[in-house]
Amino acid sequence: MLKTDVLIIGSGISGLFFAMKTAKQRPDLSLVIMAKETAKNTNTRLAQGGIAVVTDHNSDSFKQHIKDTIEAGGGHCDPEIVKMVVQQAPDRLKELLEIGTEFDKNKEGKWDLGLEGGHSQNRILHHKDNSGLEIEQKLLKIIKQLPNVELWENHQVIDLNTETKKDKTTCSGAFFYDKKYNRIKYIRARTIVLCTGGCGQLFENTTNPRIATGDGIAMAARAGAEIEDMQYIQFHPTALHSSTENPLFLISEAVRGFGAHIVNQDQKRFLFKYDTRGELATRDIISQAIFKELQFSDQEHMYLDCRHLDYEAFTYHFPAITAFCNQKGINQKKDLIPIVPAAHYQCGGIKVNQNGRTAIKNLYAIGECARTGLHGKNRLASNSLLEALVFAHQASEDINKTIAGFTFSSKILIPKFPKTEQSNDYHAFDILKKELQILVTSFYTSENRNPVLTEEKIKKLHETAISTINPNEITIPFIEFSNMTATALLIIEQCKKQNSLSAQIQN
Ligand code: SIN
Repeated sequence: MLKTDVLIIGSGISGLFFAMKTAKQRPDLSLVIMAKETAKNTNTRLAQGGIAVVTDHNSDSFKQHIKDTIEAGGGHCDPEIVKMVVQQAPDRLKELLEIGTEFDKNKEGKWDLGLEGGHSQNRILHHKDNSGLEIEQKLLKIIKQLPNVELWENHQVIDLNTETKKDKTTCSGAFFYDKKYNRIKYIRARTIVLCTGGCGQLFENTTNPRIATGDGIAMAARAGAEIEDMQYIQFHPTALHSSTENPLFLISEAVRGFGAHIVNQDQKRFLFKYDTRGELATRDIISQAIFKELQFSDQEHMYLDCRHLDYEAFTYHFPAITAFCNQKGINQKKDLIPIVPAAHYQCGGIKVNQNGRTAIKNLYAIGECARTGLHGKNRLASNSLLEALVFAHQASEDINKTIAGFTFSSKILIPKFPKTEQSNDYHAFDILKKELQILVTSFYTSENRNPVLTEEKIKKLHETAISTINPNEITIPFIEFSNMTATALLIIEQCKKQNSLSAQIQN
């Protein structure tokens, strides 16, 4: 029967960095990374901006990075966690450099530090506009060389298995769908690490890939873990507008840091009405401002204006953005770029401590699926890859110290779902998914939301999904859709809680 010392679910920066560190430090342990599609299909790969790190203590300081993070988070960050992450950043950067990750330098051979919204200093290390891709590729290369790590692609985890003794719940394994053999299997593990990313696909407009369906949150919630702050979904203000594409292409925040303006259909800047920092305000403020302006116009989008910028320097810094826009017939030297805010990052998630531990024994969560206390209500730009590195380090150290006390469960389980559907009903679920996205988007973005009615409608959609499949069968689209409805209901529930809290404070 299948077993591994450490099961890592997800192959983005959190999972790969954690696996690399743990495998190197503990060659005696076996590690399995499960990716639900190919290993490289992750949100990390799409991250353009980079990593926020204080590297120059003359012009910048940890204190300033901490202050910027806390201000962006609207007073809801955990100051101790913010301090830990910011202060560890140089050490984690060093580890990325040691494996050959390259970040851009200027003519003087110093880091070419970018500026993004909410940062009081230039402190973003980047690899052109493909920072996540560079990191992901370097990590994957190392992972494939480590003898004690196995990378299982096209393996979709369905559910965690937990055992409760004397009121203590322990995670002891996971059921998963092996797509190649169309079989459901069970694997035992001494420790399980969720690195499953966020839930951007719940929204009509998102920058997240199609795999971002809230799987880790839903599984952890079913297992009894605490989920917190799901009401804080960050919208990125500048996704390239399209009424047909999913996900939307991101135009990095670094483009505004480089001097681009946001303008309306009259080609007028409007952000200073909302914040004195204009284009360099934080994402929550800019996205809200754009939503407001759109409400008062008959437009579907606003524009990013790069026409006044040095064209050569722009294309040098942003080759991927330039190429994508050109392919769409947009030349940023003479054309305005149509943009809309799009769901980009889930600031809350599975509640963890400073070592990435959840309330369930042997279960950890790292990266976007985790709620660490770093982001508060709104994540500061380029703090997400950093958070993933720091918490992967923390969890790795913690597991290294404690795993000797974790034994394999003696229970070898037979999967609950005896049959799998061969055809996989993607089309029917695409239609259901669209309906869910419309419901969640309109709930999240409208001022007069009706949580009770939206919950009812989501539950109905889930019932329709159940009636679409045969009893005792399970399909990939059904698993994902169930995780999406469960995550949507958590967002609504936590929005309701937040509203009643605000009402109590106001009274
Ligand atoms: C961006 O480049 O704008 C995205 C980076 C991030 O999400 O922090």
